Amino acid sequence: MCGIVGYVGGRPALEVVVEGLARLEYRGYDSAGVAVLADGTLATAKRAGKLVNLRDALAEEPPPAGTIGMGHTRWATHGPPNDRNAHPHVDCTGTVAVIHNGIIENFSALRGELEEAGHKLGSDTDTEAVAHLLEDELKGGGDLAAAMRRVCGRLEGAFTLVAMHTGDPDLVVGARRNSPLVVGVGDGENFLASDVSAFIEHTRDAIELGQDQVVELRPGGVTVTDFEGRPAEVTEYHVDWDVSAAEKGGYDYFMLKEIAEQPRAVADTLLGRIGADGRLTLDEMRMSDRELREVDKIIIVACGTSYHAGLIAKYAIEHWAGLPCEVELASEFRYRDAILSPTTLVIAISQSGETMDALMAVRHAREQKAKLLGICNVNGSTLPRECDGVLYTHAGPEIAVASTKAFLTQLVAVYLIALYIAQVRGTKWGDEVFAMVQLLERMPEKVEKVLETMEPVRELARSLAGERCVLFLGRHVGFPVALEGALKLKELAYMHAEGFAAGELKHGPIALIEPGLPVVVVVPPRARAVLHDKIVSNIQEIRARGARTIVIAEEGDASVEPYADTLIGVPAVPTLLQPLVTTVPLQVFACELATAKGHDVDQPRNLAKSVTVE
Ligand code: F6R
Repeated sequence: MCGIVGYVGGRPALEVVVEGLARLEYRGYDSAGVAVLADGTLATAKRAGKLVNLRDALAEEPPPAGTIGMGHTRWATHGPPNDRNAHPHVDCTGTVAVIHNGIIENFSALRGELEEAGHKLGSDTDTEAVAHLLEDELKGGGDLAAAMRRVCGRLEGAFTLVAMHTGDPDLVVGARRNSPLVVGVGDGENFLASDVSAFIEHTRDAIELGQDQVVELRPGGVTVTDFEGRPAEVTEYHVDWDVSAAEKGGYDYFMLKEIAEQPRAVADTLLGRIGADGRLTLDEMRMSDRELREVDKIIIVACGTSYHAGLIAKYAIEHWAGLPCEVELASEFRYRDAILSPTTLVIAISQSGETMDALMAVRHAREQKAKLLGICNVNGSTLPRECDGVLYTHAGPEIAVASTKAFLTQLVAVYLIALYIAQVRGTKWGDEVFAMVQLLERMPEKVEKVLETMEPVRELARSLAGERCVLFLGRHVGFPVALEGALKLKELAYMHAEGFAAGELKHGPIALIEPGLPVVVVVPPRARAVLHDKIVSNIQEIRARGARTIVIAEEGDASVEPYADTLIGVPAVPTLLQPLVTTVPLQVFACELATAKGHDVDQPRNLAKSVTVE
């Protein structure tokens, strides 16, 4: 949540910071603010609402020009999103400014202590306490980085903090515990940000910050220490995508661009993992064949859309790899007594690699000595560091808040893992694995084909913009697809939408069916006759009760035609791979319906891209 940018160098800081914030706005957009240090004084500006409000305020009343500054886009945790609670926050003397991402859990005790000591706090936030703590530490001069270290020692919870002080006008200090923060290394200038997209147009050289580290940023260099002040080891990396990947490229919304990019994203995620002989190589898992053979259970932890990818993974892993697989919402996992051992493989799926619930689940699994594998889309994020191995999805930056291309690439990653385990453990013949891999390689073209036929789906979506509720049904891997379709509609169109396992319908949800209610049904391939025929019966049951049926089925599936008010055809693919083609119409449907309702699909209300608090 919250986007953070810091800059020190030779350019006008305000420009760099505001442009950086524009690229990070997807992380939180209920208010925004900046601080610039010029001529020995700190100038701040902040506004509730989207970044455009701040831009207008800055145009009306520009702060003095300086070459050091920082900025913040907020997703409110403590205190409503108004001008007062927007970041940066300053101390009583107006010489220290702080921005923050995360939650300081002991803030109320700290606030009480500060107020008793005479500090005047003007906001409802946890962040402001840090500005005043720094003020106390810096009384009589002093070193901002050292002060930050001491203050961090008093904080509980998750935080990324960035601070500036008039006493050292060439220095931006950042501190990180649990929440994301990366350094961009330039020539005579340096950057700090929640993610690299904020500075990608200036530099692609980055430094990954570790847990409990403090970074000092000056125009000529970057110093990283731990909270005790000892030099810290850091990982430098080069970002392998450029600024165009983080721009809309002619589309009205990032989400439209990201949906369109899916064939390439799927192809890129397969790249380099299939040998010329069709055998899979997944060295990134960092597990020897012996270790993989010893695994006796897989547990997948994830949230939201990534959780739906996990649900689909279960079918693939159990079918191909022959291993029992549990899938758990990461936010629930550590609160039950899951049975883990050194032969349990825990797979955490997270696009951002920063979702706090997922990170906490991984730490919980680590304590119980399980093996840890991450599936992640963001290089330099926290999840890969916390796992034994990581399989990167190569979706490229996903900026729209609702996940689309990351989901498809997560599916590719779990298919690869399931097939690889089958290859190593010999649970499928080599030629069976090879045949499936070949089919997987054809999926980009199938997804492309789906995208080419989406106009009727868009039309349908526009016609349903006045509806209050849509249901989604599926069986087998179509069930998680139904959940994903419902989630997309909820988060983008703010409509009541529910996904059900079609077989569960008669156990309750069928009571919801009333004349005219749109129900989307994901039909398994005809080749899975048992599943297929059962869902055709379910369609008839809801139609008999007046539902308006929207059926997603294999092209040429004549058996569903009589029962479909709207029929959406998708290419024929094997059952387990079908989510790659059936999810796409649901993404397009939700995106178009939300747009027809006048919503901003890139930044839906109340949401943020990266959920870095529990
Ligand atoms: C929905 C969506 C969210 C995320 C969830 C997990 O469209 O994007 O449900 O999937 O917040 O995020 P990651 O994958 O970054 O852990």
